[in-house]
Amino acid sequence: MPDERRSFWQRWTVRKSVEQVAEEARDSELKRDLNAWDLIVLGFGAMIGAGIFVAVDAGAILAGPAVVLAYIIAAIACIFAALCYAELAASVPASGMAYSYAFVAMGQLAAWVIAWNLIAEFMVGNMAVASAWSDNLAAALAQFGLVIPEAWMSAPGEVEGAIFNLPAFLIMITLTLILTVGVRESAATNWVLTAFKVGVLFLFIALGAWRLDPSMITADFAPAGAGGIMAASAVVFFAFIGFDAVAAAAEETKNPARNLPIGIVGSLIGVTVVYALVSLVYVGLVPTGRVADGAALAWALEAVGYGPFWTVLIALGGVAATTTVLLVFQLGIPRIALALSRDGLLPEGLGGIHERFKTPARLTLITGFITALGAGVIPMVDAIEFTVLATLFVYLVISVAVLVLRRTRPDLERPFKVPFAPFVVLGAVLVLGALMVRVNWMIWLYWGAWMGLGLILYGVYGANRGLLAKDA
Ligand code: ALA
Repeated sequence: MPDERRSFWQRWTVRKSVEQVAEEARDSELKRDLNAWDLIVLGFGAMIGAGIFVAVDAGAILAGPAVVLAYIIAAIACIFAALCYAELAASVPASGMAYSYAFVAMGQLAAWVIAWNLIAEFMVGNMAVASAWSDNLAAALAQFGLVIPEAWMSAPGEVEGAIFNLPAFLIMITLTLILTVGVRESAATNWVLTAFKVGVLFLFIALGAWRLDPSMITADFAPAGAGGIMAASAVVFFAFIGFDAVAAAAEETKNPARNLPIGIVGSLIGVTVVYALVSLVYVGLVPTGRVADGAALAWALEAVGYGPFWTVLIALGGVAATTTVLLVFQLGIPRIALALSRDGLLPEGLGGIHERFKTPARLTLITGFITALGAGVIPMVDAIEFTVLATLFVYLVISVAVLVLRRTRPDLERPFKVPFAPFVVLGAVLVLGALMVRVNWMIWLYWGAWMGLGLILYGVYGANRGLLAKDA
């Protein structure tokens, strides 16, 4: 059939076959040398950051001491979604993450929408993480008497007189330049940074447990009731974002059928335990509703009388944690955009690999610069909520994709299957959906605008040049 006569519907729903994406994955020259432990460390590296070092306070303001339940509810949503990711990652070995799974299960338009939301997840997410980086750096510097003026530490609207978050802007620019010339984050560096941030969190738990006041936790455990807990959950969900980076390493994993599910689910359970303990200790240290100055954990220890040494150490843990997240996310953006330009959904020129650096230099620079600007001017809580909404949407679609693929490709070899599939998938959809509706309506408006822009771009560009047009 000639291209012009292909129906409108076909252009929007053309799918890739599992075999096709598996072939693309085989073509890649990545070495398969990651085991389950490497994946768990990768997951810890990608997840632990602003969501615990800073957002624990935003959660406590909404839910009171019950913020610990908010983390657990967010974890349940993620574990359900993670099981779905694991089934897809084990049976559809493709990089490009959720984008590839959606392409196989639901077709090109769904894949584009997912990619569009992943770009939002990583870019807007990093705007928030960069602000958290700046808060923790400032908390450490303050102990040496170096005070960055508040006006240059916050986005307009965050505090009175705020002009621009300069440290957040500068760290993004620095990391962007590093990634452009292609200094690869080595596995060893990742291990060290991850071990340091996890060590700091355990130190916080130990020091805090020593001085906490149990009555602050028990006296009024859930002052805002179930509604407050769900609202808090829709914020602290941010702390779990990034586990999908583990699925993205499918091509580099030995025996992915076994190691991927262990890596994804294992790292989620691990961080949940850490988050639950940290948040419980936190609310035992500082009165609920007390707005911290950003670096919540460092501030809480100071408030109960720990000296500058400990405050600086915890704040540096926050700096290390947010740095690892910034790197993982910023690396993720060009990967997705490359997959899109390979499939014709974005202009090929964008995806060019720099001759000398061997990196997607142009994409890294463009997306890094936009993220840096956003980090300077967008209030952190808004960026967190926007990222959460976009990510919840991605996880929801991915969960549904499991059922779709089971119906359309029952024959597919599935080394890992979601246990009690229809129920777990339904559970995922319900919990993810319940969190989505808790997000502030203003953020829904912003997200609607982002989706609208994405659909227009697809209509004028991708739909005419994507897979179908290529085949024709
Ligand atoms: N989960 C990541 C963080 O909390 C986004 O920083």
